[in-house]
Amino acid sequence: MANVVLDPALHPDAVLGDFAHPDPARTFDISQVAFVYGSHWKQRYFARMIDPNTGLPDYYVLPAQWDVAKKKWLPYHVPHNADWWVPHYGATNQQRPTGPLCDGCHSVNYNIRTHQVTEWNVGCEKCHGPGSQHVAHPTKANIVNPGTLDSVRANDTCIQCHSQGRPLANPISAEPGDTHPQYYDWPVGYLPGERLADHWRLEELRYGVTNFYQFADLSAHKNRMQGNDFVQSNMYHRQIRCFDCHDVHSHQNPSNLIARGNQLCLTCHTSKNPAGLKGTVSEHTHHAPDSAGSQCTACHMPRIAETLKGAYVSSHTFRFLSPTLTEQFGIPNPCTSCHTDKSNEWALGQLRTWKNISPWRVAN
Ligand code: HEC
Ligand code: HEC
Ligand code: HEC
Ligand code: HEC
Ligand code: HEC
Ligand code: HEC
Ligand code: HEC
Repeated sequence: MANVVLDPALHPDAVLGDFAHPDPARTFDISQVAFVYGSHWKQRYFARMIDPNTGLPDYYVLPAQWDVAKKKWLPYHVPHNADWWVPHYGATNQQRPTGPLCDGCHSVNYNIRTHQVTEWNVGCEKCHGPGSQHVAHPTKANIVNPGTLDSVRANDTCIQCHSQGRPLANPISAEPGDTHPQYYDWPVGYLPGERLADHWRLEELRYGVTNFYQFADLSAHKNRMQGNDFVQSNMYHRQIRCFDCHDVHSHQNPSNLIARGNQLCLTCHTSKNPAGLKGTVSEHTHHAPDSAGSQCTACHMPRIAETLKGAYVSSHTFRFLSPTLTEQFGIPNPCTSCHTDKSNEWALGQLRTWKNISPWRVAN
């Protein structure tokens, strides 16, 4: 994972947004920016301020963000009826401090009392737990290795940040007598090795509802919901972990993947494996082996979770979304998202001719 949070005065190279030319969406200049946030999909800009409620320094997000791929400014403001916390804060970005709303996931050891961190980044201790004793006397016993935890707690080390949810108790007081307890959007108090469910509940999803968080089949509608998605997959039930596919220590492949393309999936989904494909890849996909339509991710991980207007991250339920779901609920399906000149009816007609899948499940 990249360094996410950087001070532009110390790291001018980290600034991706165009501050040289005026733009109607951008109402601030670089001198107001204390931190730049993000580099991959989007960059947001933090100004420092004193929180009038606590008298402590805090940050707030300036009202424009940079779309990295399209190289353009977009407004940034979480509207009413979007995230659950909006009604608990004021209407403007300046009334929404990043301490309770962002920083726990983008730093190490965010202290809710002092607002201090040990590091602005997804640092080692966020996944391996407190490490000072380990640094002084390195043994396997005084550090958490997610690789040796049970699969629930192993996945929890990732889900702590890669999910939408709420702390079990909210608002949270920073100290006894705190007159301004705040609503946090990250799992305050959770440490790797613990069960996340003792601190955090995933956003409640409801079948048939389409909103900021979810499509009607419960697939994620927005980014940072890989955990909410993945717990719905049979792979999660079979104790597969996020890091069976991602090596967070390696940037050798895109998205920190352990292998590229279909090779990743086919390490497990061999014909010898009960979870495997019964025949060849082509027999399963009904496309030529080297076709874009034969990539496992094209049908099982469509890019439908919005991170910016018009930019999406991949679904992690691994379900095939039938064109029937498009007809019923407007959920985009992989067939007509790629075959943009074809109708849902055409795709359903094709699927009904595929003898090795059930029409009851995918084309009814
Ligand atoms: C985003 C989460 C994450 C971060 C950040 C992270 N690690 Fe890891 N680390 C893991 C996971 C998950 C494993 C287990 C991988 C596996 O078993 O496949 C691991 C394994 C390791 C191992 C191997 C342990 C063994 O017994 O083989 C070492 C050493 C390690 N990490 C060191 C570090 C250091 C040092 C840092 C900071 C520079 C760091 N990690 C940051 C998630 C993380
Ligand atoms: C402290 C919060 C945190 C934890 C814990 C965490 N992540 Fe992340 N992860 C992030 C953030 C923030 C980003 C976006 C970083 C960026 O801009 O590159 C990210 C990005 C990623 C990416 C995309 C990287 C890319 O270059 O496309 C993958 C894959 C990922 N995380 C997997 C994991 C896995 C697997 C674990 C558990 C072992 C994990 N993360 C734990 C916060 C976290
Ligand atoms: C519960 C943890 C969590 C909270 C709270 C959180 N984020 Fe993130 N953020 C993530 C993770 C994980 C990712 C990467 C995965 C993804 O976007 O799907 C991410 C991605 C980002 C990115 C994109 C990074 C890139 O390189 O493109 C930005 C910018 C960002 N967050 C800013 C914020 C801001 C601003 C807030 C508060 C308003 C916030 N985040 C709150 C976990 C969190
Ligand atoms: C580490 C092994 C492993 C890897 C890697 C892996 N799978 Fe799986 N997969 C499984 C297991 C185990 C099951 C569960 C089979 C069962 O219980 O019926 C499964 C089930 C599935 C299912 C059934 C539906 C569901 O609810 O999950 C799909 C679809 C799937 N995998 C797609 C993929 C794709 C796509 C990839 C590559 C991006 C992939 N798998 C990579 C092991 C793996
Ligand atoms: C062109 C679309 C398409 C592609 C590409 C595709 N699949 Fe599928 N896959 C499907 C459909 C449709 C189903 C049936 C879904 C259902 O019954 O709900 C399915 C079901 C599955 C299942 C669960 C049922 C079973 O057969 O065991 C697994 C596992 C799976 N696919 C793995 C993969 C892997 C691995 C790849 C890449 C080699 C892949 N798929 C590529 C469309 C596709
Ligand atoms: C079965 C394999 C598999 C598992 C398990 C898995 N991922 Fe992924 N993930 C992928 C693949 C493949 C991609 C890239 C998809 C693409 O580029 O088309 C990806 C992409 C991502 C990204 C980059 C954003 C994007 O979609 O481009 C993040 C962040 C991420 N995964 C986090 C996680 C987290 C957190 C977990 C566990 C909760 C997890 N993944 C579990 C296969 C997996
Ligand atoms: C990522 C893109 C992609 C996805 C997803 C995809 N296809 Fe395709 N499809 C292609 C391409 C490219 C071709 C051209 C021939 C080839 O490469 O196999 C094709 C060819 C076809 C053909 C034969 C040619 C034609 O136009 O009559 C059919 C039928 C078809 N696809 C149906 C489907 C169905 C049904 C789905 C969903 C289950 C699907 N495709 C998903 C890319 C895709």
